[in-house]
Amino acid sequence: MNTDITVILNKGSIKHTLNKSEILSLLKTKDTNKLFKVANKIRKLYVGDEVHLRALIEFSNYCQQNCLYCGLRRDNTKLIRYRMEPNKIIDLVQKAKDYGYKTIVLQSGQDSYYTIEKMKKIILAIKNLNVALTLSIGEKTFEEYRAYRNAGTDKYLLKIETTDQNVYNKLNPGMSLKNRKNCIKNIKKLGYETGSGIIVGLPGQTLESIVEDIIYMQSIPVDMVGIGPFIYNPNTPITCPPKNNNNTYFELSLKIIAILRILIPDINIPATTAMETVKPNGRLIALQSGANVVMPNATEINYKKYYEIYPGKICLKDSPEHCRCCIESKIKSIKRYISTDVGIPQ
Ligand code: 5AD
Ligand code: FES
Repeated sequence: MNTDITVILNKGSIKHTLNKSEILSLLKTKDTNKLFKVANKIRKLYVGDEVHLRALIEFSNYCQQNCLYCGLRRDNTKLIRYRMEPNKIIDLVQKAKDYGYKTIVLQSGQDSYYTIEKMKKIILAIKNLNVALTLSIGEKTFEEYRAYRNAGTDKYLLKIETTDQNVYNKLNPGMSLKNRKNCIKNIKKLGYETGSGIIVGLPGQTLESIVEDIIYMQSIPVDMVGIGPFIYNPNTPITCPPKNNNNTYFELSLKIIAILRILIPDINIPATTAMETVKPNGRLIALQSGANVVMPNATEINYKKYYEIYPGKICLKDSPEHCRCCIESKIKSIKRYISTDVGIPQ
């Protein structure tokens, strides 16, 4: 087994492939600066200094799933639920466009209120506004994915959460890892720019299983990968894990971002909201360790406080307009700039 980090990083930088024990060594390394520096260099080389902004609109917090870690789970009766009508969603997209966003991410819990017909109406109206559209609305049938794609959706985001069968079964009752993988396969097959990702620090998850997650991302291969630390939510059945140290999972998430940048150098990697929730300026740190995308929230204040996947989410009292300005100056402060591309091949 080769545990010399410099040797592993050299191999990764040239070949963009590493075996399981090499990935494990990187996940375990204390020499994090070396890892982050290499990832940052590869990021600059392959995707440049531009940062892509995607406006996130959380249009419904109803969820028919019951994932043990998530505040939107259907059994969480403490959450006040909302869903927006299609016209409201389209109105928010128009506003996000006016703030200068060129890609919109529509996210919700898994909510069957939005039928194919409703979704098609929303998608067609949004595509008329000439912005790129990402959907992040959960597990659907092949026919549904096909209908959204045919209506003009550009990208789809479905996190695998974990590829560890035992952990998945325990935390995602009524769901199956096999079906989730199949959904991602279908999304890729339909020609979506395909996004996935994991939660880092789930109870029962091991570094070995994270190695498998990374290899899974490479096998698709994903075009986009979101990595974020697990954040304990007291309104869920999970009790606070004894090792739930924000710093540990922040650093581990950062390592995973860096490794993914090295292994799949040209993909989009968001600096996720969860990263900044556990660490001040966490998104800027991620942008300097391999990430190249930020997804500022463009949901109106009176809704976004109810989209409580986990507590302590950043920017809850800030308007979409404020978030747009804030992120722009933050990005400039690290000598990066905001992309003017639409975010899809033209
Ligand atoms: N901590 C961090 N991320 C979470 N998600 C759900 N619950 C949590 C939590 N407690 C993530 C999942 C989901 C995304 C919308 O939020 O990855 O796909
Ligand atoms: Fe599963 Fe929300 S209940 S992601």
